[in-house]
Amino acid sequence: MKKMFRVLALAVLLAGVAFTAEAETASRKSIKHGEFLVGYGGCQDCHTPGWGEHGGQASKDMLLTGGGINFQGPWGTTYPPNLRLYVQKISAQDWIRQLRNLKTRPAMPWWTFRYLSDRDLSDMYAYIHSLGPAGRPAHDFVAAGQEAPAPYLKLVLPAPPPLAH
Ligand code: HEC
Repeated sequence: MKKMFRVLALAVLLAGVAFTAEAETASRKSIKHGEFLVGYGGCQDCHTPGWGEHGGQASKDMLLTGGGINFQGPWGTTYPPNLRLYVQKISAQDWIRQLRNLKTRPAMPWWTFRYLSDRDLSDMYAYIHSLGPAGRPAHDFVAAGQEAPAPYLKLVLPAPPPLAH
């Protein structure tokens, strides 16, 4: 009886180890896929300081820490937020909900998330979260006509062509 109990305990333990290993592989895959989506989605272009200047490279402590390229136009001045701090404050579920309902000022391409599944979005979250918190919060949005701290790209935009249906 005692022996059977020991065998059973061992089986439960091994199942637990296998389950943990599987979960770890799954989360590694999520992080890897999230890194790919963030890279190909161009998030670093604006959300990582110096990314473009260094030909798409940055040290790990700078990745996605915000304020990479800021934009000034008729809407005011916008500063890409620090995404590493952003994901620390919310769950993966909140991140998905937020991105699905996102509508920002320029130049954030908020419409691109429509091409991604919830799984893709949660992988993106896993990658950004895995980087850990770093940097400081980016500057808040500054309304048009008010003094805004440089640097920023000053944009003179053409009127958009009408949508043909
Ligand atoms: C062309 C520049 C640019 C690119 C590319 C870009 N962003 Fe942004 N992002 C911004 C700016 C600027 C803001 C701030 C907008 C504002 O203040 O209204 C912003 C805001 C955000 C926010 C905050 C939304 C909120 O107000 O809660 C999130 C989240 C975000 N970006 C995620 C991403 C992700 C993920 C990618 C890659 C798929 C990405 N961004 C690509 C410029 C960019």
